[in-house]
Amino acid sequence: MKAAVTLKTGKGFTTTEIRIADPIGREVLVDVKASGLCLTDHSLMANDFGFPLPAVFGHELAGVVTAVGPDVTEFQVGDHVVGCLVQWCGRCQPCIEGIQTDCLNPLAVERSAGEEPRLVGSDGPIYQGMGLGGFAEKALVHENQLARVNDEIPFSRAALLGCGTVTGAGAVINSAKVAPGDTVAVIGTGGVGLNAIAAARLAGAKTIIAVDIQDTKLDMATRFGATHVVNSRNTDPVEEIRRISGGGVDYAFEIIGLPATQMQAIAAAKTSGTAVLVGMGKPGAKIEIETSAAFLATHKTIKAVMMGSTNLKRDIPFYADMYVAGRYNLDDLVTNEISIDEIDEAYDSLASGTVIRSVITRF
Ligand code: APR
Ligand code: ZN
Ligand code: ZN
Repeated sequence: MKAAVTLKTGKGFTTTEIRIADPIGREVLVDVKASGLCLTDHSLMANDFGFPLPAVFGHELAGVVTAVGPDVTEFQVGDHVVGCLVQWCGRCQPCIEGIQTDCLNPLAVERSAGEEPRLVGSDGPIYQGMGLGGFAEKALVHENQLARVNDEIPFSRAALLGCGTVTGAGAVINSAKVAPGDTVAVIGTGGVGLNAIAAARLAGAKTIIAVDIQDTKLDMATRFGATHVVNSRNTDPVEEIRRISGGGVDYAFEIIGLPATQMQAIAAAKTSGTAVLVGMGKPGAKIEIETSAAFLATHKTIKAVMMGSTNLKRDIPFYADMYVAGRYNLDDLVTNEISIDEIDEAYDSLASGTVIRSVITRF
């Protein structure tokens, strides 16, 4: 099959022919119809994080089931499915409690060292990124990492559900539990932030304040449900959020990963409000908080969240249904549809600020 393989760190994605194994145990073979280009995959290609190379990255995939292993119970040939990078065993205590993101044994969903590798190239085994390897015509995935979605959602939209949507929307719905009438600020309205805004609208937030430094992103934010926009290049976002919300918001989401904007989120939360930290800081990044009586008297909560605390079997079908019902905007997230040999160019175009997500739909 055709796959876009990362051969060496920093050398991009090279389309080549590789072999994919047949499903065993609880594995599902998926004919990939759409695969999103998350920045994380670019980062995995450009930096050495210790993952073996060559590798097939790509973790935002949607497609059709074409074969199932003998122990698969949940999927059948023809099902439309979406992959998710959350790896969970289903047996440990957090998994039993439904908190898949806290699984203690995530690698249980990959093949073990003694087994035939899922992907093999002319020079030997190829590493399958995050147990998915979505930059390819086919993906062989453990059933725990797949969710079934309704047949009406286009694959190019469904592909985004497993990463950007569960992360941004999950922070709002699962972690913060935003309720009707709440006030919300979202600092950083890129691919993940726009999903947080869409979810805040879905949850019934009264006021949704989008903060970014790019006007193109803020224009986009209004299409997802922002009621107010603040360009923090020109204006102090904390003062502006306080002014709009009348003293601070119930929930301030930081979706960039910078200490300065994390501090803005903490400052923009109202007394007894919550700052939700979604953006990943660089290793070693820190924030400093004064712990004087004045701060304690704010009764604020600072909440960390990873992958939107998602339960992927529950959340992915839910967002797909909301999209089909016209209640969740995914269309405006997909700005480019590309072919599998255009990944390098598509990542380069992200810098322009007009691209939210490129999705491979031609293999
Ligand atoms: N102030 C306000 N907005 C900013 C600033 C800043 N100082 N710096 C960057 N931004 C905006 C950008 O203009 C962009 O719209 O933040 C947004 C980031 O969006 P993307 O680059 O599309 O990133 P995204 O995929 O949304 O991920 C954001 O969430 O889950 C995490 O790892 C992910 O840390 C990353 C974050
Ligand atoms: Zn991602
Ligand atoms: Zn587990």
